[in-house]
Amino acid sequence: MARVRRHNGRRMLRVILSSALVALCCACSVMPTTTTRRSLPADPHSHAEPNRVRVVHLSLDLALDFERRRAEGSARLDLERIDRDAPLRLDVRALEILGVTGSAGGKRKYIVGPEDDATASELIVELARDDTSVTVHYRTTERAEAMQWLAPAQTAGGKQPFLFTQGQAILTRTWIPLQDSPAVRITYDATIRAPQGLTPVMSAEQLGRAADGAWHFRMQQPIPSYLIALACGELEFSAVSARCGVWAEPSVLGGARSELEDMEAMVQSAEELFGPYRWGRYDLIVLPPSFPFGGMENPRLTFATPTILAGDKSLVGLVAHELAHSWSGNLVTNATWRDFWLNEGFTVYFEQRIMERVYGPERSNMEKVLGLREYEEELPTLDLGLRMLHLDLVGRNPDDAVTSVPYQKGALFLRRIEELVGRPAFDRFLRRWFDEHAFMSVTTEEFLAYLRSELLAHYPDAATKLNLVEWLYDGGVPADLPRPRSAMLDEVDAQVARWTAGTAAEALVTKGWTTQQWLRFLDALPASLSVVQLAQLDRVFGFTQSRNSEILCEWLVACVRNQYSAADSRVAEFLCSVGRRKFLKPLYTELAKSPEGLRRAREIYALARPRYHAVSTRTIDDLLDWKP
Ligand code: BES
Ligand code: ZN
Repeated sequence: MARVRRHNGRRMLRVILSSALVALCCACSVMPTTTTRRSLPADPHSHAEPNRVRVVHLSLDLALDFERRRAEGSARLDLERIDRDAPLRLDVRALEILGVTGSAGGKRKYIVGPEDDATASELIVELARDDTSVTVHYRTTERAEAMQWLAPAQTAGGKQPFLFTQGQAILTRTWIPLQDSPAVRITYDATIRAPQGLTPVMSAEQLGRAADGAWHFRMQQPIPSYLIALACGELEFSAVSARCGVWAEPSVLGGARSELEDMEAMVQSAEELFGPYRWGRYDLIVLPPSFPFGGMENPRLTFATPTILAGDKSLVGLVAHELAHSWSGNLVTNATWRDFWLNEGFTVYFEQRIMERVYGPERSNMEKVLGLREYEEELPTLDLGLRMLHLDLVGRNPDDAVTSVPYQKGALFLRRIEELVGRPAFDRFLRRWFDEHAFMSVTTEEFLAYLRSELLAHYPDAATKLNLVEWLYDGGVPADLPRPRSAMLDEVDAQVARWTAGTAAEALVTKGWTTQQWLRFLDALPASLSVVQLAQLDRVFGFTQSRNSEILCEWLVACVRNQYSAADSRVAEFLCSVGRRKFLKPLYTELAKSPEGLRRAREIYALARPRYHAVSTRTIDDLLDWKP
């Protein structure tokens, strides 16, 4: 596990500011008209001191060099000088700094601190009295973990290279020098120079290509640094509605467009639930399969894995999820990574509400039941600090917090409040929460204070029943955990019971089952199965040949666990073609449980590793005790 340095004395000396109102110059109607210069909470994962000098805008100018696999250019940072005597402290990692200039162009002194742990070092810039901005001239290195440069063979088209970035949680500092804390919100503009034939896209408004061939972007709403994102490759666009569309490589685009045709309906449902979509366009880019996540909620442009394209819309819950982040996460953001559940728990809750509206309550119920199961299965395997909603991340990389606790327990907490006060009251409350905290980064304590004063104060009965300490600061399962039910999953359980009691697989009633039902089927099977049993299931249901990534992954885990060697080549093939950590982790974990499996895992990993993103290799290196 990566170690992160603890608070130090200097940080304790931070100047605490009384909040002052700062008017943001803006003419655009979607922008907030004023913002409060709030004193920001300490962030153990950042060296920045935004309460002394705060970055408010980034102007990025980068040329992409696919041969050398690096980007080179500059980042101009506009500053708010709160403490005139304070230097500017930025987060950087693995960047080659070429020089720093002040607002009038003069050179500024700087030092790059030691890389004191796996996550960060700092760039300290001495500011002149009248500097309102600084420009950092730099290039990225091959250790830029946010960036994955793909060879043409790793793309669908096979002819052009590809690049994408992944900023969350603390990787933006590996490609842009800035204050890399989710509490610090900035606007940005970018100029990207890319080779002929490649199209760059960003989490921003696309302003097009200038006469000199450079591409221009701008984001006028203040966002946290982890949401700055770039992808570049042979990309084409297909519209789904006036404000929604899909970017993908040409050979993927047609299929992706039809799989994702409900995007507009999802945005409309989300707006009906929690207020206007404030980001203008909502597009999605389907990335090559090495993308380490299912999806990433980069504003205006969700980044997604191609493994959600199952052909039957069965995995589009992920789109509802990333879209929901346009409210929970992008509009109202966790102030530190401890408060991660404010992003993900809210988003899962919101995702389930969107799915209920667009695809009906039963689909949503099935997804809720599967989510709860995930939480209950994973909880006992987690360190105590990761079992509570309010996480203990001191000494940990925030990436370790991506577990079902912030996601599922977080969503269940909100569902519990909904149960207690009733849906209409809870919806009104959530809507106001988003409106009143729009474009702000907030802590768990701020949410709790708001919950108490704006909701629970009016529902004394609910207030007595809700044990907030148990829900937020305790690692156990709350006594009043909601237990969602699904009739369609109950049907599956009945069939599994018949099968385990001796009924042949052929005789089971499975006609018309959905992906969620098959996932339940696989999950409900006994952990220990004979090769004969697995062969029978495979013959009747064709799992090894499934083209649904979720079903396939769940099945392959069962095959590895029970040494069903007929699936061995499929396991290797899957691990070599997909880089999504959610699939890699359980498969490598299961393989590593036996000496023979571990040998196979290492053999496969040696081949596959160069094709995985750093987010995935960090996890799998650990798992297989791999020394790069
Ligand atoms: N924001 C997350 C992905 C993330 C979390 C990246 C933490 C880095 C650090 C994204 O919204 C997400 O939750 N993705 C899930 C989707 C799922 C829950 C529908 C994924 O990638 O599997
Ligand atoms: Zn999410």
